Amino acid sequence: MNPDTFLLPVRDNITLRFIRPDEAEALYKLVDRNRAYLRKWLPWVDAQTGPEASKENILGRIEKVKTMGMLDLGIYLEGKLIGSMGFNRIVADQRKASIGYWISPEFQGKGIMTDCVRALLDYGFNERHLHRIRIQCSVNNKRSAAIPEQLGFTFEGIAREDEFLYDHFEDSRIYSILAQEWKSRNKQ
Ligand SMILES: CC(C)(COP(=O)(O)OP(=O)(O)OC[C@H]1O[C@@H](n2cnc3c(N)ncnc32)[C@H](O)[C@@H]1OP(=O)(O)O)[C@@H](O)C(=O)NCCC(=O)NCCS
Repeated sequence: MNPDTFLLPVRDNITLRFIRPDEAEALYKLVDRNRAYLRKWLPWVDAQTGPEASKENILGRIEKVKTMGMLDLGIYLEGKLIGSMGFNRIVADQRKASIGYWISPEFQGKGIMTDCVRALLDYGFNERHLHRIRIQCSVNNKRSAAIPEQLGFTFEGIAREDEFLYDHFEDSRIYSILAQEWKSRNKQ
């Protein structure tokens, strides 16, 4: 896969693609503006100290698609970067992956992330031939849990003290969906 040309359409005006290194400033500003909101649930926010760190993050994403098949994409609304999502972990030989996501708060609650996850599930199961896709989120992150619940994932249980968030551990809710479940759910 070529990260320069990869594009996943979500809706008419929404696409997923790799963030380009020349967009480091835009990514940094988006994160910096929403630091408190993102920091509540995501462990990497403090490491985003400036556009240089964002550029490293972008280059890391491009490197990881080449070496590990990971797929960490920008969400673009009419060409404007509004968030990020993708396969933040993938074990290609076992055909399984995990999805991570965040979106700028002014675009929350419009179903955009649900549609992005839907597009990524189609891509993961149909194009990458994955077998199992997982979403994990803090037990307290109700908004995040609404996404796998709405898309027919199975709740598997709680992983205790699963994620370290700056100064404390959070328990995670673990959800998964299998290829056959997604395909039969989407059969016409
Ligand atoms: C978690 C997060 C990505 C959810 O994004 P979101 O924009 O709320 O997600 P969606 O809009 O797709 O779906 C969730 C809600 O929208 C509703 N929705 C779905 N389709 C909709 C539509 N077409 N129109 C309006 N609302 C819709 C859903 O029913 C759900 O409603 P709820 O808010 O009452 O639960 C966002 O809150 C976020 O980035 N949070 C900070 C970072 C974070 O927590 N990341 C996840 C770590 S595990």
